[in-house]
Amino acid sequence: MKLTIIGTGYVGLVTGACFAEVGHHVVCVDNDPAKVKLLQDGGIPIYEPGLEELVTRNVQAGRLRFTVSTTEGVEKSDVIFIAVPTPPQADGSVDLSFIEKVAREIAAAMTSYKIVVDKSTVPVKTGDQVAETIKRYCKTKVEFDVVSNPEFLREGFAVEDLMKPDRIVVGVRTQRPVAAMKQLYAPFNAPIVVTDINSAELIKHASNSFLALKISYINAIAVLCEATGANVQEVAAGMGMDERIGRRFLNAGLGFGGSCFPKDLSAFVKIAEQTGYDFRLLKEVQRINADQMDRFLKKITETMWVLKDKKLGVLGLAFKQNTDDVRSSPAIDLCQRLLKEGATLRVHDPKGMDKARAVLPNVTYVDDMNAVAEGCDALVVATEWDEFKKLDLDRARQSLTHPILFDGRNLFDAAEMEAAGWIYKSIGR
Ligand code: UDX
Repeated sequence: MKLTIIGTGYVGLVTGACFAEVGHHVVCVDNDPAKVKLLQDGGIPIYEPGLEELVTRNVQAGRLRFTVSTTEGVEKSDVIFIAVPTPPQADGSVDLSFIEKVAREIAAAMTSYKIVVDKSTVPVKTGDQVAETIKRYCKTKVEFDVVSNPEFLREGFAVEDLMKPDRIVVGVRTQRPVAAMKQLYAPFNAPIVVTDINSAELIKHASNSFLALKISYINAIAVLCEATGANVQEVAAGMGMDERIGRRFLNAGLGFGGSCFPKDLSAFVKIAEQTGYDFRLLKEVQRINADQMDRFLKKITETMWVLKDKKLGVLGLAFKQNTDDVRSSPAIDLCQRLLKEGATLRVHDPKGMDKARAVLPNVTYVDDMNAVAEGCDALVVATEWDEFKKLDLDRARQSLTHPILFDGRNLFDAAEMEAAGWIYKSIGR
């Protein structure tokens, strides 16, 4: 099939590449000429495992190309995906201006029946607005259908999540686009849930909020574990063996960050408020998440007492492992708060250092994780990169003035660390 994806961010670019990989012909549109040029020249603007190979292979096969022209994309395709940002506004609500603008552009370029699919995370009832906008701005009377098809990919695992999805959600107003949507997704062999548009839009916000709730829940349990001498990882393992609960998203730590959970939670609270419902449960999820960082900082200051003039080594800047994304990263927040306390920082992240430089200028970036501890008073783990587990702990101990490690992601075995002479503080253990 012939598709156009408007927006080449994490969702748009990976979706485009994966659709091309299964044989569809894909045009990716972006209004940033520099980004389009980079992609046309074989560059990839984000780090995502497996993405570069996928893009290169499909560009070479003639199934994937990039343009700045929405008109060209609309003319050449049967199905048009909207995958543009829906950033938060100051009051927590969602800025839908990019969606609205793209809807107008699509309308202006339509000359035959099109299926317009929204992939961006949007408040419930946005599909209705998109349909109204297209109808209003269409130059000629052209038939179209609006579909809601939320994306559930995780950064760092985006290709894997897209190629092997748990489910595909397709929200429709009429049955007409259903066959085409099923044909489009047939190569992915995943269950397809066909529903009305409002339900599809709610599924996305409800899912993300539930996952965030799971994380805050285990972080609250971690507080109880610390107060009682229990071990949160053992509690999570025991809980997770109940299939109704599941072990995933029960890792206690510094809390959740990234470009989705914090923004989507605020948006969902706001959406509920607009319907007259006070979603206090989700407000508590947000509060627990914020507390988690305060509690970790308190752990650091309780041990180190005064942070002014102390040098700390920080491992991790990205909001989670396998990504270079530092947007709303708990690790960056932590660094900024440590700097505010007067500490100086030596930092390392396997992929996130380039993007971190813009938001964290006054620190020393260290290329080798094993060199971070040099001359420091303590080491801090802020992101759950697997490779940090291979840190040369003997070298780190010798480099530090005192063997102190604050592990915000529970990467190391507490008993082993203590047996090796470390002052080791982690979460919920
Ligand atoms: C999330 C959703 O998982 C995805 O379905 C949706 O499409 C977009 O939002 P993403 O933001 O890429 O994906 O990251 P995710 O892997 O969900 O992690 C989010 C945050 O939660 C990270 O900061 C991570 O460190 C934290 N986290 C995750 C925990 O603290 N504990 C966990 O057990 C899992």
